[in-house]
Amino acid sequence: MPTLALLAGYFLGSIPFGLLLARATGAGDLRTIGSGNIGATNVLRTGRKGLAAATLILDVLKGAVAVLFGEWLQPGLGALGGVGAFYGHIFPVWLRFHGGKGIATFLGVAAALHWPSALAFAVTWLALSLLTRYSSVGGVGAAITTPIVSAFFFQAALTLVFLAFALTVLWTHRANLGRLFEGTEPRIGQKASAPP
Ligand code: G3P
Repeated sequence: MPTLALLAGYFLGSIPFGLLLARATGAGDLRTIGSGNIGATNVLRTGRKGLAAATLILDVLKGAVAVLFGEWLQPGLGALGGVGAFYGHIFPVWLRFHGGKGIATFLGVAAALHWPSALAFAVTWLALSLLTRYSSVGGVGAAITTPIVSAFFFQAALTLVFLAFALTVLWTHRANLGRLFEGTEPRIGQKASAPP
């Protein structure tokens, strides 16, 4: 059962909704647009707000559904499903393991596992994104905040999972962090330079 929860989560998480939606609607191949990322922020750079919103919702949902499916298989396996979804999004077999940066899926997993942590994630993400107009600052800030909040609630196992997610998010945003330090990171909605 644990293997099934992990694998089901992985395959659900590995569905690149942003890439598929952009391709299906003629918005182009996200990997050649803006930052080259397959997430909602980069879909927004195509100028299609509805498509970006749909990508965000679907990427959040797949994280939550993976947790719920794991929990349905066997109580206690939700976190394993969530781990599968988060890493499936970042390392999808279909894209030769070059996937997204994990922010929306992190939120979905947190929402289904521990709502106070998810609330802290969402509030931090929104506040920092709106204040700085940098999606990456919002995402990285939210990822770092989440294990701190779950620790505050004495959720030891969850805190370890969220800590692993936060460290992974720092790694997936390494190019963004480099651009932020150089002052070349595009603000939300702004066109980005060519993908690395
Ligand atoms: O969730 C991804 C976001 O934090 C950064 O996206 O396209 O600017 O690299 P992007």
